[in-house]
Amino acid sequence: MNEAWLTIPATIYAPHAPVRQRRALRDLVLVIGASAATFLLSSAFQLREWLTDITRPLERYQIDELPLTFAVLAVSLAWFAWRRWRHAEEELQLRVAAQQALVAHEAQYRTLFMENLAGTALASAQGEILLCNPAFIRMLGLEHASQARGRNFGQFYADKDLWQKHQQALAAGRKLEIGVLELRGASGIEVKAIACVQPHRSPGVSAGLLVFLADISELQIMQRELADALAENRLLSQKYLMVQEDERRNLARELHDELGQCLNAIKLDAVVIRDMVQGRQPEIEVSAKAIVELSGHVYEVVRGIMQRLRPAALDALGLRDAVEHLLGQWRRGNPGVDCRFVAGGDLSDLDEMLNITVYRLAQECLTNIAKHARAAHVTVSLERRDPHELLVAVADDGCGLDAAAKRTGLGLIGLRERVEALSGRLHLATEPGKGLTVSAVLPVTAQH
Ligand SMILES: Nc1ncnc2c1ncn2[C@@H]1O[C@H](COP(=O)(O)OP(=O)(O)OP(=O)(O)O)[C@@H](O)[C@H]1O
Ligand SMILES: [Mg+2]
Repeated sequence: MNEAWLTIPATIYAPHAPVRQRRALRDLVLVIGASAATFLLSSAFQLREWLTDITRPLERYQIDELPLTFAVLAVSLAWFAWRRWRHAEEELQLRVAAQQALVAHEAQYRTLFMENLAGTALASAQGEILLCNPAFIRMLGLEHASQARGRNFGQFYADKDLWQKHQQALAAGRKLEIGVLELRGASGIEVKAIACVQPHRSPGVSAGLLVFLADISELQIMQRELADALAENRLLSQKYLMVQEDERRNLARELHDELGQCLNAIKLDAVVIRDMVQGRQPEIEVSAKAIVELSGHVYEVVRGIMQRLRPAALDALGLRDAVEHLLGQWRRGNPGVDCRFVAGGDLSDLDEMLNITVYRLAQECLTNIAKHARAAHVTVSLERRDPHELLVAVADDGCGLDAAAKRTGLGLIGLRERVEALSGRLHLATEPGKGLTVSAVLPVTAQH
Protein backbone atom coordinates (compact mmCIF):
# COMPACT_ATOMS: atom_id res chain seq x y z
CA MET A 1 0.00 0.00 0.00
CA ASN A 2 3.05 2.19 0.44
CA GLU A 3 3.22 3.27 -3.16
CA ALA A 4 -0.04 5.16 -2.59
CA TRP A 5 2.00 7.75 -0.85
CA LEU A 6 4.15 10.24 -2.72
CA THR A 7 7.40 10.68 -0.85
CA ILE A 8 9.21 13.97 -0.65
CA PRO A 9 12.16 13.89 -3.12
CA ALA A 10 15.38 12.68 -1.47
CA THR A 11 17.38 15.64 -0.29
CA ILE A 12 21.12 16.02 0.04
CA TYR A 13 22.33 14.76 3.35
CA ALA A 14 25.43 16.40 4.80
CA PRO A 15 28.34 14.05 5.71
CA HIS A 16 28.64 13.24 9.41
CA ALA A 17 30.78 15.51 11.63
CA PRO A 18 33.71 13.01 12.17
CA VAL A 19 34.08 12.57 8.40
CA ARG A 20 34.14 16.32 7.91
CA GLN A 21 36.77 16.74 10.65
CA ARG A 22 38.98 14.02 9.12
CA ARG A 23 38.87 15.76 5.76
CA ALA A 24 39.74 19.15 7.28
CA LEU A 25 42.73 17.56 9.12
CA ARG A 26 43.98 16.00 5.91
CA ASP A 27 43.83 19.37 4.14
CA LEU A 28 45.68 21.01 7.05
CA VAL A 29 48.42 18.41 6.85
CA LEU A 30 48.72 19.15 3.12
CA VAL A 31 49.08 22.89 3.83
CA ILE A 32 51.73 22.25 6.52
CA GLY A 33 53.54 19.77 4.22
CA ALA A 34 53.56 22.25 1.31
CA SER A 35 54.93 25.00 3.63
CA ALA A 36 57.65 22.69 5.02
CA ALA A 37 58.62 21.58 1.50
CA THR A 38 58.85 25.24 0.42
CA PHE A 39 61.06 25.97 3.45
CA LEU A 40 63.35 23.05 2.67
CA LEU A 41 63.63 23.99 -1.00
CA SER A 42 64.27 27.64 -0.08
CA SER A 43 67.03 26.61 2.36
CA ALA A 44 68.62 24.27 -0.13
CA PHE A 45 68.65 26.70 -3.02
CA GLN A 46 69.03 29.92 -1.04
CA LEU A 47 65.93 31.24 -2.80
CA ARG A 48 65.53 34.37 -0.72
CA GLU A 49 69.15 35.50 -1.35
CA TRP A 50 68.56 34.79 -4.98
CA LEU A 51 65.37 36.87 -4.92
CA THR A 52 67.14 39.70 -3.08
CA ASP A 53 69.85 39.75 -5.73
CA ILE A 54 67.29 39.86 -8.50
CA THR A 55 65.16 42.54 -6.90
CA ARG A 56 68.09 44.77 -5.77
CA PRO A 57 67.87 46.95 -8.88
CA LEU A 58 64.18 47.47 -8.07
CA GLU A 59 64.93 48.62 -4.51
CA ARG A 60 63.43 52.01 -5.21
CA TYR A 61 60.02 50.30 -5.77
CA GLN A 62 60.19 48.66 -2.30
CA ILE A 63 59.85 45.24 -3.90
CA ASP A 64 61.83 43.74 -1.03
CA GLU A 65 58.88 44.50 1.30
CA LEU A 66 56.65 42.12 -0.64
CA PRO A 67 57.59 38.84 1.08
CA LEU A 68 56.47 40.13 4.48
CA THR A 69 53.30 41.57 2.94
CA PHE A 70 52.56 38.24 1.24
CA ALA A 71 53.21 36.43 4.49
CA VAL A 72 50.62 38.63 6.30
CA LEU A 73 48.22 38.19 3.34
CA ALA A 74 48.59 34.42 3.57
CA VAL A 75 47.87 34.39 7.31
CA SER A 76 44.86 36.73 6.81
CA LEU A 77 43.51 34.49 4.04
CA ALA A 78 43.92 31.49 6.30
CA TRP A 79 41.93 33.29 9.02
CA PHE A 80 39.34 34.34 6.43
CA ALA A 81 38.99 30.79 5.16
CA TRP A 82 38.66 29.46 8.70
CA ARG A 83 35.89 31.94 9.46
CA ARG A 84 33.97 31.00 6.27
CA TRP A 85 34.43 27.35 7.11
CA ARG A 86 32.94 27.90 10.55
CA HIS A 87 29.94 29.74 9.05
CA ALA A 88 29.45 27.00 6.52
CA GLU A 89 29.62 24.46 9.32
CA GLU A 90 26.90 26.29 11.34
CA GLU A 91 24.69 26.63 8.29
CA LEU A 92 25.11 22.98 7.53
CA GLN A 93 24.04 22.04 11.04
CA LEU A 94 20.89 24.16 10.67
CA ARG A 95 20.10 22.50 7.38
CA VAL A 96 20.61 19.06 8.83
CA ALA A 97 18.27 19.90 11.74
CA ALA A 98 15.66 21.25 9.29
CA GLN A 99 16.05 18.16 7.17
CA GLN A 100 15.52 15.89 10.17
CA ALA A 101 12.43 17.86 11.24
CA LEU A 102 11.09 17.55 7.71
CA VAL A 103 11.61 13.81 7.70
CA ALA A 104 9.90 13.49 11.11
CA HIS A 105 6.95 15.58 9.90
CA GLU A 106 6.71 13.57 6.75
CA ALA A 107 6.51 10.39 8.81
CA GLN A 108 3.81 11.95 10.99
CA TYR A 109 1.67 13.13 8.09
CA ARG A 110 2.23 9.88 6.30
CA THR A 111 0.85 7.98 9.30
CA LEU A 112 -2.09 10.39 9.63
CA PHE A 113 -2.87 9.96 5.95
CA MET A 114 -2.42 6.21 5.81
CA GLU A 115 -4.21 5.36 9.06
CA ASN A 116 -7.05 7.86 8.65
CA LEU A 117 -10.43 6.16 8.77
CA ALA A 118 -11.81 8.73 6.33
CA GLY A 119 -11.02 8.04 2.71
CA THR A 120 -8.70 10.73 1.40
CA ALA A 121 -7.51 11.23 -2.14
CA LEU A 122 -5.70 13.72 -4.30
CA ALA A 123 -6.96 13.93 -7.86
CA SER A 124 -6.22 15.99 -10.94
CA ALA A 125 -8.55 18.83 -11.85
CA GLN A 126 -10.40 16.40 -14.13
CA GLY A 127 -10.85 13.91 -11.30
CA GLU A 128 -8.08 11.43 -12.14
CA ILE A 129 -6.97 9.83 -8.88
CA LEU A 130 -3.28 10.47 -8.25
CA LEU A 131 -2.91 9.50 -4.65
CA CYS A 132 -5.21 7.89 -2.10
CA ASN A 133 -5.10 6.28 1.31
CA PRO A 134 -6.10 2.71 2.26
CA ALA A 135 -9.49 3.84 3.66
CA PHE A 136 -10.35 5.33 0.28
CA ILE A 137 -9.34 2.12 -1.48
CA ARG A 138 -11.38 0.02 0.96
CA MET A 139 -14.40 2.24 0.58
CA LEU A 140 -14.46 1.75 -3.16
CA GLY A 141 -14.17 -2.01 -2.76
CA LEU A 142 -10.70 -2.10 -4.27
CA GLU A 143 -7.76 -4.14 -3.08
CA HIS A 144 -4.79 -2.11 -4.09
CA ALA A 145 -3.85 1.51 -4.63
CA SER A 146 -2.82 0.73 -8.20
CA GLN A 147 -6.46 -0.18 -8.95
CA ALA A 148 -7.56 3.32 -7.99
CA ARG A 149 -4.71 5.34 -9.40
CA GLY A 150 -5.33 6.64 -12.88
CA ARG A 151 -9.08 6.06 -12.66
CA ASN A 152 -11.46 8.98 -12.59
CA PHE A 153 -13.24 9.68 -9.33
CA GLY A 154 -16.39 10.45 -11.33
CA GLN A 155 -16.52 6.80 -12.47
CA PHE A 156 -17.48 5.86 -8.93
CA TYR A 157 -20.47 8.22 -8.80
CA ALA A 158 -23.80 6.36 -8.88
CA ASP A 159 -25.30 9.38 -10.61
CA LYS A 160 -23.02 10.45 -13.46
CA ASP A 161 -24.98 13.67 -14.10
CA LEU A 162 -24.26 14.70 -10.54
CA TRP A 163 -20.55 14.31 -11.20
CA GLN A 164 -20.88 16.65 -14.21
CA LYS A 165 -22.55 19.23 -12.00
CA HIS A 166 -19.93 18.81 -9.31
CA GLN A 167 -17.14 19.20 -11.84
CA GLN A 168 -18.60 22.48 -13.02
CA ALA A 169 -18.87 23.75 -9.48
CA LEU A 170 -15.30 22.67 -8.71
CA ALA A 171 -14.02 24.32 -11.88
CA ALA A 172 -15.65 27.52 -10.63
CA GLY A 173 -13.52 27.15 -7.49
CA ARG A 174 -16.32 26.04 -5.17
CA LYS A 175 -15.86 23.66 -2.28
CA LEU A 176 -18.51 20.91 -2.18
CA GLU A 177 -19.85 19.54 1.08
CA ILE A 178 -22.17 16.67 0.30
CA GLY A 179 -24.46 15.26 3.02
CA VAL A 180 -24.97 11.89 1.36
CA LEU A 181 -23.04 10.95 -1.76
CA GLU A 182 -23.97 7.70 -3.41
CA LEU A 183 -21.01 5.89 -4.88
CA ARG A 184 -20.76 2.63 -6.72
CA GLY A 185 -17.53 0.84 -5.92
CA ALA A 186 -15.86 -2.11 -7.57
CA SER A 187 -18.18 -5.03 -8.39
CA GLY A 188 -21.13 -2.68 -8.01
CA ILE A 189 -21.13 -2.32 -4.22
CA GLU A 190 -23.18 0.65 -3.08
CA VAL A 191 -21.48 3.05 -0.77
CA LYS A 192 -23.06 6.03 0.94
CA ALA A 193 -20.65 8.64 2.17
CA ILE A 194 -20.46 12.10 3.60
CA ALA A 195 -18.13 13.82 1.17
CA CYS A 196 -16.11 16.96 0.86
CA VAL A 197 -14.51 17.75 -2.48
CA GLN A 198 -12.53 20.90 -2.93
CA PRO A 199 -10.20 22.46 -5.48
CA HIS A 200 -6.57 22.31 -4.42
CA ARG A 201 -3.80 24.59 -5.47
CA SER A 202 -0.28 24.71 -4.07
CA PRO A 203 2.79 26.44 -5.46
CA GLY A 204 4.71 24.36 -7.94
CA VAL A 205 1.98 21.72 -8.24
CA SER A 206 -0.64 21.73 -10.96
CA ALA A 207 -4.23 22.40 -9.82
CA GLY A 208 -6.15 19.40 -8.55
CA LEU A 209 -8.90 18.18 -6.25
CA LEU A 210 -8.90 17.02 -2.67
CA VAL A 211 -11.49 14.37 -1.87
CA PHE A 212 -12.55 13.34 1.63
CA LEU A 213 -15.08 10.56 2.21
CA ALA A 214 -16.62 9.19 5.41
CA ASP A 215 -18.48 5.91 4.92
CA ILE A 216 -21.97 6.07 6.39
CA SER A 217 -23.47 3.03 4.67
CA GLU A 218 -23.65 1.05 7.91
CA LEU A 219 -24.92 4.07 9.77
CA GLN A 220 -27.69 4.55 7.24
CA ILE A 221 -28.71 0.91 7.54
CA MET A 222 -28.70 1.22 11.32
CA GLN A 223 -30.68 4.45 11.11
CA ARG A 224 -33.25 2.77 8.90
CA GLU A 225 -33.46 -0.21 11.25
CA LEU A 226 -33.81 2.13 14.20
CA ALA A 227 -36.56 4.11 12.48
CA ASP A 228 -38.36 0.85 11.67
CA ALA A 229 -37.99 -0.38 15.24
CA LEU A 230 -39.27 2.97 16.52
CA ALA A 231 -42.26 2.86 14.21
CA GLU A 232 -42.99 -0.72 15.33
CA ASN A 233 -42.69 0.35 18.94
CA ARG A 234 -45.09 3.21 18.36
CA LEU A 235 -47.56 0.92 16.74
CA LEU A 236 -47.21 -1.52 19.59
CA SER A 237 -47.73 1.22 22.20
CA GLN A 238 -50.71 2.48 20.29
CA LYS A 239 -52.20 -1.00 20.17
CA TYR A 240 -51.45 -1.57 23.81
CA LEU A 241 -53.09 1.71 24.79
CA MET A 242 -56.12 0.92 22.66
CA VAL A 243 -56.46 -2.47 24.30
CA GLN A 244 -56.04 -0.84 27.68
CA GLU A 245 -58.73 1.72 26.95
CA ASP A 246 -61.03 -1.01 25.65
CA GLU A 247 -60.44 -3.02 28.78
CA ARG A 248 -61.19 0.00 30.93
CA ARG A 249 -64.36 0.71 29.01
CA ASN A 250 -65.49 -2.90 29.48
CA LEU A 251 -64.66 -2.77 33.15
CA ALA A 252 -66.56 0.51 33.55
CA ARG A 253 -69.55 -1.02 31.77
CA GLU A 254 -69.43 -4.12 33.95
CA LEU A 255 -69.19 -1.99 37.06
CA HIS A 256 -72.09 0.09 35.92
CA ASP A 257 -74.25 -2.80 34.76
CA GLU A 258 -73.48 -5.31 37.47
CA LEU A 259 -72.32 -3.53 40.60
CA GLY A 260 -74.30 -0.38 39.91
CA GLN A 261 -77.53 -2.33 39.36
CA CYS A 262 -76.96 -4.48 42.43
CA LEU A 263 -76.29 -1.45 44.59
CA ASN A 264 -79.41 0.21 43.31
CA ALA A 265 -81.40 -2.95 44.05
CA ILE A 266 -79.93 -3.12 47.56
CA LYS A 267 -80.75 0.53 48.07
CA LEU A 268 -84.33 0.10 46.86
CA ASP A 269 -84.85 -2.95 49.08
CA ALA A 270 -83.45 -1.08 52.02
CA VAL A 271 -85.81 1.82 51.27
CA VAL A 272 -88.76 -0.60 51.21
CA ILE A 273 -87.70 -2.14 54.51
CA ARG A 274 -87.16 1.31 56.03
CA ASP A 275 -90.63 2.45 54.92
CA MET A 276 -92.25 -0.79 56.13
CA VAL A 277 -90.85 -0.58 59.66
CA GLN A 278 -90.96 3.19 59.94
CA GLY A 279 -92.09 4.17 63.49
CA ARG A 280 -92.71 0.56 64.52
CA GLN A 281 -89.36 -1.15 64.70
CA PRO A 282 -86.77 1.56 65.28
CA GLU A 283 -83.76 -0.80 65.32
CA ILE A 284 -84.55 -2.25 61.91
CA GLU A 285 -85.35 1.26 60.63
CA VAL A 286 -81.92 2.55 61.71
CA SER A 287 -80.19 -0.42 60.02
CA ALA A 288 -82.25 0.05 56.85
CA LYS A 289 -81.36 3.78 56.78
CA ALA A 290 -77.68 2.91 57.22
CA ILE A 291 -77.90 0.46 54.29
CA VAL A 292 -79.55 3.13 52.14
CA GLU A 293 -76.81 5.65 52.97
CA LEU A 294 -74.02 3.14 52.60
CA SER A 295 -75.24 1.83 49.28
CA GLY A 296 -75.59 5.44 48.08
CA HIS A 297 -72.03 6.11 49.20
CA VAL A 298 -70.64 2.92 47.61
CA TYR A 299 -72.46 3.84 44.39
CA GLU A 300 -70.79 7.27 44.42
CA VAL A 301 -67.38 5.60 44.91
CA VAL A 302 -68.10 3.17 42.08
CA ARG A 303 -69.19 6.06 39.87
CA GLY A 304 -65.88 7.81 40.61
CA ILE A 305 -63.99 4.66 39.66
CA MET A 306 -66.08 4.33 36.51
CA GLN A 307 -65.33 7.93 35.61
CA ARG A 308 -61.62 7.35 36.01
CA LEU A 309 -61.75 4.13 34.05
CA ARG A 310 -63.72 5.56 31.21
CA PRO A 311 -64.60 9.24 31.04
CA ALA A 312 -68.23 8.90 30.03
CA ALA A 313 -68.29 12.59 29.30
CA LEU A 314 -65.85 12.01 26.46
CA ASP A 315 -68.32 9.74 24.68
CA ALA A 316 -71.34 11.78 25.58
CA LEU A 317 -70.05 15.33 25.19
CA GLY A 318 -66.96 15.31 22.99
CA LEU A 319 -63.46 16.45 23.89
CA ARG A 320 -64.00 20.14 24.59
CA ASP A 321 -66.91 19.61 26.97
CA ALA A 322 -65.36 16.53 28.54
CA VAL A 323 -62.26 18.55 29.46
CA GLU A 324 -64.50 21.35 30.66
CA HIS A 325 -66.37 18.80 32.79
CA LEU A 326 -63.07 17.46 34.14
CA LEU A 327 -62.02 20.97 35.07
CA GLY A 328 -65.34 21.56 36.79
CA GLN A 329 -64.76 18.52 38.98
CA TRP A 330 -61.17 19.55 39.63
CA ARG A 331 -62.22 23.09 40.61
CA ARG A 332 -64.58 21.67 43.18
CA GLY A 333 -61.74 19.63 44.69
CA ASN A 334 -59.31 22.57 44.59
CA PRO A 335 -61.35 25.67 45.36
CA GLY A 336 -58.33 27.86 46.14
CA VAL A 337 -56.85 27.57 42.65
CA ASP A 338 -57.87 29.79 39.76
CA CYS A 339 -58.27 27.44 36.82
CA ARG A 340 -58.85 28.65 33.26
CA PHE A 341 -59.72 26.75 30.14
CA VAL A 342 -58.88 28.02 26.68
CA ALA A 343 -59.97 26.11 23.60
CA GLY A 344 -59.59 27.11 19.98
CA GLY A 345 -60.30 25.61 16.60
CA ASP A 346 -62.44 22.69 15.58
CA LEU A 347 -62.12 19.81 18.06
CA SER A 348 -65.09 17.81 16.88
CA ASP A 349 -63.50 15.56 14.26
CA LEU A 350 -60.61 14.10 16.28
CA ASP A 351 -60.31 10.34 16.44
CA GLU A 352 -60.90 8.39 19.62
CA MET A 353 -57.27 7.73 20.49
CA LEU A 354 -56.45 11.41 20.15
CA ASN A 355 -59.43 12.38 22.31
CA ILE A 356 -58.43 9.93 25.01
CA THR A 357 -54.78 10.99 24.90
CA VAL A 358 -55.66 14.66 25.33
CA TYR A 359 -58.14 13.88 28.06
CA ARG A 360 -55.70 11.66 29.95
CA LEU A 361 -52.99 14.29 29.61
CA ALA A 362 -55.21 16.97 31.12
CA GLN A 363 -56.34 14.52 33.81
CA GLU A 364 -52.80 13.50 34.85
CA CYS A 365 -51.48 17.07 34.79
CA LEU A 366 -54.35 18.33 36.92
CA THR A 367 -53.83 15.47 39.39
CA ASN A 368 -50.12 16.32 39.51
CA ILE A 369 -50.85 19.98 40.13
CA ALA A 370 -53.15 19.09 43.02
CA LYS A 371 -50.56 16.67 44.41
CA HIS A 372 -47.27 18.48 43.89
CA ALA A 373 -47.46 22.03 42.55
CA ARG A 374 -48.95 24.28 45.27
CA ALA A 375 -50.12 26.52 42.41
CA ALA A 376 -52.42 29.56 42.50
CA HIS A 377 -53.23 29.67 38.78
CA VAL A 378 -53.69 26.94 36.22
CA THR A 379 -54.40 27.21 32.51
CA VAL A 380 -55.45 24.33 30.34
CA SER A 381 -55.39 25.06 26.62
CA LEU A 382 -56.49 23.09 23.62
CA GLU A 383 -55.76 24.55 20.25
CA ARG A 384 -56.28 23.11 16.80
CA ARG A 385 -53.50 25.04 15.10
CA ASP A 386 -54.24 23.80 11.64
CA PRO A 387 -56.11 20.83 10.20
CA HIS A 388 -53.16 18.59 10.94
CA GLU A 389 -51.98 19.63 14.37
CA LEU A 390 -53.37 19.90 17.87
CA LEU A 391 -51.65 21.62 20.74
CA VAL A 392 -52.53 20.79 24.30
CA ALA A 393 -50.89 22.48 27.24
CA VAL A 394 -51.37 22.56 31.00
CA ALA A 395 -49.50 25.36 32.74
CA ASP A 396 -49.30 26.13 36.44
CA ASP A 397 -47.45 28.71 38.50
CA GLY A 398 -46.48 26.39 41.32
CA CYS A 399 -43.14 25.23 42.62
CA GLY A 400 -41.93 23.76 39.31
CA LEU A 401 -40.14 20.47 38.72
CA ASP A 402 -37.31 19.69 41.06
CA ALA A 403 -34.55 18.61 38.66
CA ALA A 404 -32.54 16.99 41.46
CA ALA A 405 -35.43 14.94 42.82
CA LYS A 406 -35.50 11.27 41.99
CA ARG A 407 -38.71 10.53 40.12
CA THR A 408 -40.47 7.32 40.83
CA GLY A 409 -43.92 8.19 39.49
CA LEU A 410 -45.27 6.83 36.26
CA GLY A 411 -47.63 9.63 35.30
CA LEU A 412 -45.29 11.73 33.15
CA ILE A 413 -43.61 8.67 31.65
CA GLY A 414 -47.02 7.29 30.68
CA LEU A 415 -47.95 10.63 29.14
CA ARG A 416 -44.83 10.64 27.01
CA GLU A 417 -45.60 7.11 25.85
CA ARG A 418 -49.15 8.06 24.94
CA VAL A 419 -48.06 11.16 23.03
CA GLU A 420 -45.24 9.39 21.20
CA ALA A 421 -47.49 6.48 20.30
CA LEU A 422 -49.43 9.02 18.24
CA SER A 423 -46.18 10.41 16.75
CA GLY A 424 -46.52 13.54 18.83
CA ARG A 425 -43.98 15.46 20.90
CA LEU A 426 -44.22 16.08 24.64
CA HIS A 427 -42.39 19.01 26.15
CA LEU A 428 -41.89 20.02 29.79
CA ALA A 429 -40.91 23.61 30.50
CA THR A 430 -40.12 24.48 34.07
CA GLU A 431 -38.18 26.80 36.31
CA PRO A 432 -37.82 26.41 40.04
CA GLY A 433 -40.54 28.46 41.74
CA LYS A 434 -42.11 29.45 38.42
CA GLY A 435 -44.28 26.45 37.73
CA LEU A 436 -44.44 23.81 35.07
CA THR A 437 -45.93 23.75 31.60
CA VAL A 438 -46.60 20.37 30.07
CA SER A 439 -47.34 20.70 26.39
CA ALA A 440 -47.87 18.25 23.58
CA VAL A 441 -48.10 18.71 19.85
CA LEU A 442 -50.17 15.94 18.32
CA PRO A 443 -50.68 15.21 14.66
CA VAL A 444 -54.30 15.01 13.65
CA THR A 445 -55.16 12.19 11.32
CA ALA A 446 -58.43 11.66 9.52
CA GLN A 447 -60.98 9.97 11.73
CA HIS A 448 -61.58 6.33 10.93
N1 LIG B 1 -47.13 20.38 38.22
C1 LIG B 1 -46.04 19.95 38.90
N2 LIG B 1 -45.40 20.80 39.74
C2 LIG B 1 -44.35 20.38 40.44
N3 LIG B 1 -43.83 19.13 40.37
C3 LIG B 1 -44.44 18.25 39.58
C4 LIG B 1 -45.59 18.60 38.80
N4 LIG B 1 -45.94 17.51 38.08
C5 LIG B 1 -45.09 16.53 38.41
N5 LIG B 1 -44.18 16.97 39.31
C6 LIG B 1 -43.06 16.21 39.85
O1 LIG B 1 -42.71 15.22 38.94
C7 LIG B 1 -42.74 13.96 39.55
C8 LIG B 1 -43.21 12.92 38.55
O2 LIG B 1 -44.58 13.08 38.26
P1 LIG B 1 -45.41 11.82 37.84
O3 LIG B 1 -46.78 12.27 37.49
O4 LIG B 1 -44.62 11.11 36.80
O5 LIG B 1 -45.41 10.94 39.14
P2 LIG B 1 -46.28 11.05 40.45
O6 LIG B 1 -47.35 12.06 40.25
O7 LIG B 1 -45.34 11.29 41.59
O8 LIG B 1 -46.87 9.60 40.58
P3 LIG B 1 -48.00 8.92 39.68
O9 LIG B 1 -48.38 9.90 38.63
O10 LIG B 1 -47.36 7.69 39.13
O11 LIG B 1 -49.11 8.63 40.59
C9 LIG B 1 -43.64 14.10 40.73
O12 LIG B 1 -43.30 13.19 41.74
C10 LIG B 1 -43.38 15.53 41.16
O13 LIG B 1 -42.22 15.60 41.98
MG1 LIG C 1 -48.66 11.92 38.54
